[in-house]
Amino acid sequence: MFSFLIIFPILFTLSSSTPLGELLGSRSTDDYNIYAVLVAGSNYYNNYRHQADVCHAYQVLRNHGVPAENIIVVMYDDIANNKTILILEVTPENFLGYSLLDPDDHVFIYFADHGDVGIIGFPTNIISSHDLNKALVYMHDHKMYGKLTFYLEACESGSMFENILPDNINIYATTAANSVESSWGCYCDDPKINVCLADTYSVAWLDNSDSHDITKETLEQQFKDVVKHTPKSHPQQFGQKSMAGLEVGQFLGEKASSRIHATRSHPRDFVNSRDVPLVMLERKIERTDDAAEAAVLAKELQTLIAGRRFLESSIKKIVSQLCSNGYCSDAKQVLSTRQPLINHSTYSKVVKKFQSSCLNLGIYTHGMKFMHVFANLVESNTFTESTLNRFLADLEKACNDHIVNHGFEAII
Ligand SMILES: *[C@@H]1O[C@H](CO)[C@@H](O)[C@H](O)[C@H]1NC(C)=O
Ligand SMILES: *[C@@H]1O[C@H](CO)[C@@H](O)[C@H](O)[C@H]1NC(C)=O
Repeated sequence: MFSFLIIFPILFTLSSSTPLGELLGSRSTDDYNIYAVLVAGSNYYNNYRHQADVCHAYQVLRNHGVPAENIIVVMYDDIANNKTILILEVTPENFLGYSLLDPDDHVFIYFADHGDVGIIGFPTNIISSHDLNKALVYMHDHKMYGKLTFYLEACESGSMFENILPDNINIYATTAANSVESSWGCYCDDPKINVCLADTYSVAWLDNSDSHDITKETLEQQFKDVVKHTPKSHPQQFGQKSMAGLEVGQFLGEKASSRIHATRSHPRDFVNSRDVPLVMLERKIERTDDAAEAAVLAKELQTLIAGRRFLESSIKKIVSQLCSNGYCSDAKQVLSTRQPLINHSTYSKVVKKFQSSCLNLGIYTHGMKFMHVFANLVESNTFTESTLNRFLADLEKACNDHIVNHGFEAII
């Protein structure tokens, strides 16, 4: 029910196991502590940039005086240290047993991963907009924070908060993209590394925080600067906009950073997040002089393209089948349009059904790209409980017919 809560318990485990006295050193004259949760939801080398962004965010918080013990980093540590998962297994049941944070505390959450309409990835799983916002409202209602700022990097990230995040629960959120567009990687052009080193919106707020006096700069000022430095997508603001007048330092640390005069970097070589694996492979092939290596890479590229084509054609067949079941009249239109997501709770049930019965989007992240078709179907049908159940059964059947029984195992 509260899948996103797997993140928050870590925060509260920490707060319940750290005597408040030990943290008083970090308490400023204002009566709150700052806690931060930094999440890179992806793994694999192609997604290097998410972990790099999280490491950069950690440095920014430390430079601004947030104690290490107040920062929770959640990521697959498979790149720098070749370790497997760091995420703690915490269930909603034991979550509810934890003591709560001080109701005045300021919480900063930064999340970087793949996404699509109303979903963000997590290694081997997804989090829906419905569950995320439900968790946030739950935290508010149980006085688990004073004020919370949430920065989200993902494709279609605006859809995680649009038409759902309340504007009166002391939460201010910004996103890398609006609800209908990709977010973009950058610094992808080092031939030795052959991967994108950062995400554009993330590097914009991180560089801003490195180079400005965030004890004076407001969230609004930072947001405007981030918009200016995010040329390929349209960052958005959500939630309690009045919080935008607060200083960034209230969430990222009250100490002026020693890097305050650092010159701003100039991100270059932007690549659409969804195309990163494809573009990186193409470039590797172009660069190599070794015929044997080129052949291996070409094979890899073919597999990748074949996997993506298979998914695209499967989704088309699934939509056609659902139209013939009476849920739509024009499959082409369902595939090509994007209706704003309003009914997040019904959509959450549909994508979870897709996740469990069709394709694991946490692993096969490219599949996320097509989820807008289910948002369209949810918004153009008026489901009752029983017609929704029938729809979910029909979806499962269509998935069996067109994806599951095809032994799909491609890299994407
Ligand atoms: C990670 O470690 C395993 C075994 O310890 C090794 O086989 C593998 O090649 C390592 N991977 C990387 C990327 O270093
Ligand atoms: C969402 O859809 C459900 C049916 O699945 C319906 O009961 C509910 O009223 C809808 N909510 C909104 C906000 O439209």
